[in-house]
Amino acid sequence: MKKVQINQELIANHLKNYGFIYANSEIYNGLSNTWDYGPLGVNLKNNLKKIWWREFISKDRNLVGLDSMILLNPMVWNASGHLSNFSDPLIDCKECKSRFRADKLIEEVDSSIEVNENSTNEVIQQLFKDLNIVCPNCKKQSWTDIRHFNLMFKTFQGVVENNTSEIYLRPETAQGIFLNFKNVLRTSRKKVPFGIGQIGKSFRNEITPGNFIFRTREFEQMEIEFFSHESEALKWFDYYLEKIESFLTTYCKLSKDNFQLSEHSPEKLSHYSKRTVDYIYNFPHGWGELWGLAYRTDYDLKTHMEYSKKDLTYLDPETNEKYIPHVIEPSVGVERLLYAICTEAYDEEVISEDDTRIVMRLHYDLAPYKVCVLPLVNKLKDLANEVFDSLLNNGIECCYDASGSIGKRYRRQDAIGTPYCITVDFDSLEKGTVSIRDRDTMKQIIIPIKELKNFFLNLQ
Ligand code: GAP
Repeated sequence: MKKVQINQELIANHLKNYGFIYANSEIYNGLSNTWDYGPLGVNLKNNLKKIWWREFISKDRNLVGLDSMILLNPMVWNASGHLSNFSDPLIDCKECKSRFRADKLIEEVDSSIEVNENSTNEVIQQLFKDLNIVCPNCKKQSWTDIRHFNLMFKTFQGVVENNTSEIYLRPETAQGIFLNFKNVLRTSRKKVPFGIGQIGKSFRNEITPGNFIFRTREFEQMEIEFFSHESEALKWFDYYLEKIESFLTTYCKLSKDNFQLSEHSPEKLSHYSKRTVDYIYNFPHGWGELWGLAYRTDYDLKTHMEYSKKDLTYLDPETNEKYIPHVIEPSVGVERLLYAICTEAYDEEVISEDDTRIVMRLHYDLAPYKVCVLPLVNKLKDLANEVFDSLLNNGIECCYDASGSIGKRYRRQDAIGTPYCITVDFDSLEKGTVSIRDRDTMKQIIIPIKELKNFFLNLQ
């Protein structure tokens, strides 16, 4: 049970003050809604990607990885439907000039109404009238017409800036996987069912970015496209539902009270989806999508076949059946998951009437540092440095802190989620032992220095 009321400012300040996340371009007053990851943030982010890859790709006999490019042939976005469908309805208040996503304002007034990619501007406009929607900023009811705004970032390839050199930054990593379906199939010698996973940057020119790192214009996605026969697709959908939940509880340590499933109604489904379920999380600003699971049918391979005129069918070597595989897609944003993890991990634990400690209860595999080496006093720094170097050389993510009282140093490591602190004391010189303090229980054990390496390697 959390003893502290979590809010966005509290988490953002904590992550900034301890070197996890900084405002981007800060010395030039920032660039709105963009964030940089500091020494601890980059360790945490890398660890999250590493364990996702390990659990979803490396440990799964049916999965292989891919690293496709951000820039793709623009025809891809014609085929995928992104050029025609990947837009949000935009509306401006004529009085105060604030800009909003029209679908979000409607949902806020009446959550039972679903505005989707098929809702025309006229329908949305009428809903604004029927629901008497006023500007959340100035409370006036003076709206511009609705305009659809495509979320893809456009740029130019080469030196000439004209229509033929227009190119887009990918808004999802998924398409690079579909384009390589046949390459991977041929070279990896996989048979359907099998999946391709990828981690990479995606870009969306969001109309309303914000809520810290929840919605940004540049972010990373961890996606899998899992290919199977149509008759088995829903079985694999259930498989991934369970797998995601297990990952969220085991490694992300999300409490079951703070996340739940949200099934898309038929009206809300994307143009490519037959079934979509989101895991939504209780973020500091409210419930929001964390991880999407979509049954994309054979839509993508089929449309890429139509547009490219290349054969993307699969010939089953056992049954001789030729078909276009159906796709199940689990997709999550790295930063959004990291935000949920940090929100969940943050705690202010009351130890006694006048003593409270901040502690981030991160999973060992995720912690930016697994251990911190602390010489009790400066005199012990040579031995402490030896211990530090030996852990580093054995590949254990490790830090060193020699300044300040030992109590304050423990507390600093608690606040950044370091699971263990090693204290080098006078017994270390005399008996060759150190104490290991556990972040969560604050209990200490004494072990010989020569056993340290195995102690930590066994935890990995
Ligand atoms: N390929 C499917 C796809 O991209 P999506 O629901 O649009 O589906 C998947 O995105 C996940 O990517 C979301 O559940 C979320 O975690 C993350 N995501 C999407 N847009 C984001 C944004 N603007 N900022 C941060 N994360 C985002």
